Amino acid sequence: MTASPALLDALGRPLRDLRISVTDRCNLRCTYCMPGEVFGPDYAFLPREELLTFEEIERLACVFTSLGVQKLRLTGGEPLLRRDLPKLVERLNTLPGVQDIALTTNGLLLPKLAQPLKDAGLRRVTISLDSLDPGVFGRMNGLGVHPDRVMAGLEAALVAGLGVKVNTVVQRGVNEEGLSELWQALREKAVVRFIEFMDVGNHNGWNLDNVVPSSEVIARLGTGAQALRPLPAHYPGEVATRYQGAEGFEAGVISSVTRPFCGDCSRARLSAVGGLYTCLFATSSFDLRGPLRSGKSDAELIELLRGVWSVRRDRYSEERTEATAQTRVKVEMSHIGG
Ligand code: GTP
Ligand code: 5AD
Ligand code: SF4
Ligand code: SF4
Repeated sequence: MTASPALLDALGRPLRDLRISVTDRCNLRCTYCMPGEVFGPDYAFLPREELLTFEEIERLACVFTSLGVQKLRLTGGEPLLRRDLPKLVERLNTLPGVQDIALTTNGLLLPKLAQPLKDAGLRRVTISLDSLDPGVFGRMNGLGVHPDRVMAGLEAALVAGLGVKVNTVVQRGVNEEGLSELWQALREKAVVRFIEFMDVGNHNGWNLDNVVPSSEVIARLGTGAQALRPLPAHYPGEVATRYQGAEGFEAGVISSVTRPFCGDCSRARLSAVGGLYTCLFATSSFDLRGPLRSGKSDAELIELLRGVWSVRRDRYSEERTEATAQTRVKVEMSHIGG
């Protein structure tokens, strides 16, 4: 497919990243994402036949790359629950224009899948781990799963030669006490990024009092002579702000609440059923599966995407108030993978 002219949204932001959710299911029930009371035994997950096939995902990803997407990230729910995921990685890896493919996972299935994923061409993973304290982590993941199980996945990723980052969601009164310990235990193996608790979805009981500002997290990781120093961004629009400790190890913070980064947001999100979301906090999506299955050509799909992206004005994190957080009906995190 030939490259089209650069595509900017209504606020001048290019389309660079595509985050692809491959399933809405997960083998954990983190309280801030899929609380067990809501995502219980009777919850209606997407039926398998509704999901985009690997062929369809590859085709859409190819269309996106022709509009400027360079970076792909596979998400869920938990993406490793999708059967044969390495085969999808293999397909995406051959697309022209793709400079980076990453995967966000809770790590539980990495002991089995890290090597096949690496062999398929994956270079890096981001593993979610909120605490090394078994009681705290067990409560946060909703199922009492022990942090050692995630650590086994992390070690398997390292052994397979994958680059590893760790995402830690920080909640006031829940895991803030163990942050420094977690960073010290992991920083030689992975870049740890601390994420401010966000009001994604409609069920996590978010309010501002439960957010620990990133500035406080950085202060918790080191003070005085040990204080962390800011590092320059790797690329414009990087989600995490980077810091370096006295010993040279890196830590990142993702400050969507206290320092929103919508100004540079170049991310589109594709749900497992082919819904295109132009913001993590969107209330609705644009169906791409219908046009795809009704036989639209690549050129027609490109025109459709151009139409959607060129009028995009999303900047939710800059507009957030306690009221929007409580009342706006938003897409669930498990549907678009964060
Ligand atoms: P790399 O820099 O490629 O490693 O990835 P990244 O920083 O984009 O990281 P990742 O995808 O792991 O994002 C980390 C977390 O930041 C996500 O899981 C979300 O919780 C949050 N995040 C990512 N993108 C956005 C965004 O566009 N808006 C908001 N509000 N939060 C985001
Ligand atoms: N606030 C902040 N981060 C969240 N994540 C999931 N839900 C939330 C939330 N409410 C993070 C997970 C994972 C990534 C997919 O998004 O920890 O790392
Ligand atoms: Fe699953 Fe990740 Fe959501 Fe936790 S944050 S419930 S691991 S999708
Ligand atoms: Fe992008 Fe929406 Fe996140 Fe802002 S809130 S950075 S527009 S995804």
